[in-house]
Amino acid sequence: MVKRIGILTSGGDSPGMNCAIRAVVRSGLSFGLDVFGIYDGYRGLVDDEIVQMDRKSVSDIVNRGGTILRTARLPEFKLQEVREKAVSNLRKHQIEALVVIGGDGSYMGAKKLTEMGINCVGLPGTIDNDIALTDYTLGFSTAVSNCVEAIDKIRDTMEAHHRLFIVQVMGHHCGDLALLSGLASGADAIFYQGGKLTPEEVVSKARAFKTRGQRDFLVVTAENLLDVPALARRLADETGYETRYEILGHIQRGGDPVPQDRILGLTFGLKALSLLLEGKAGRAVGIRSGQVVSDDLDAVLAGHKGLSPLDLAATERILS
Ligand code: ADP
Ligand code: F6P
Repeated sequence: MVKRIGILTSGGDSPGMNCAIRAVVRSGLSFGLDVFGIYDGYRGLVDDEIVQMDRKSVSDIVNRGGTILRTARLPEFKLQEVREKAVSNLRKHQIEALVVIGGDGSYMGAKKLTEMGINCVGLPGTIDNDIALTDYTLGFSTAVSNCVEAIDKIRDTMEAHHRLFIVQVMGHHCGDLALLSGLASGADAIFYQGGKLTPEEVVSKARAFKTRGQRDFLVVTAENLLDVPALARRLADETGYETRYEILGHIQRGGDPVPQDRILGLTFGLKALSLLLEGKAGRAVGIRSGQVVSDDLDAVLAGHKGLSPLDLAATERILS
């Protein structure tokens, strides 16, 4: 059975990562394992920033956003010789297996390390909800909550000034964050990857709203879809609304994890540990229809992430 394991967080941080770290460390210790924290994601593997953890290392963190292990993006990890350095550091510490918390880029690294003999289990930690074979990723619910809180504030000033606002949220190339935060904020129009709405349709909808006397108009859009300043100019020119836009930025990624993410982190962490104890390698944990599951990293990386489990046709009726 595995005796010494490591854990790291990689890519964009997401709220709930600390809960997952805590679950892996505490349950690992309870099984008599030696558990090592690797700082700054894959960079810490290469630079040997590897520290043994105890119960106290993960005290007072369930309510904290970010990641106590910190994180990084290390493009050079795609190179075999860089990963060899990582593997040699792991061998030096006799660490046989790793929990990798991150998104699909981090999963690629985990797959390659597994092929080099380090058993890795992936845990989906990203606000983007863009990982296949899991309904939710860790941090997504908190990011939706952060977006809604920010959009509610924007709405106050939008209404006070009779304005049209476009709010752009994150999500990388996944529309879930825009769709859910737009719906929860009562947006009049939502652009998200997979949606059918066109700028022309929004212009004509906003023009119709203005003509019939609606004082304001809220558009929520995913990033990587639109030229937001250009759309704002066009809406100002063609609808009569005074128009503003807001790119929400990293405020979406920080802050205390909501309870769903705390529990998800705990649940994913326990599952990841049990997979390592069973000697499973190259797996990723997830949640589908309320069930905690695991799949091959290969299948997750090859899979296509569907939109959040919503009846999209019915949803479009609300927006029409
Ligand atoms: P995320 O894990 O959130 O998708 P990134 O795409 O930035 O974030 O990936 C995080 C890190 O994973 C990268 O900085 C790199 O160290 C590692 N990584 C990404 N792609 C690969 C790959 N093809 N091979 C090995 N490591 C990779
Ligand atoms: O992947 C998480 C994420 O927050 C994306 O939603 C966003 O596109 C990106 O990371 C931002 O990255 P950075 O923090 O490097 O600006």
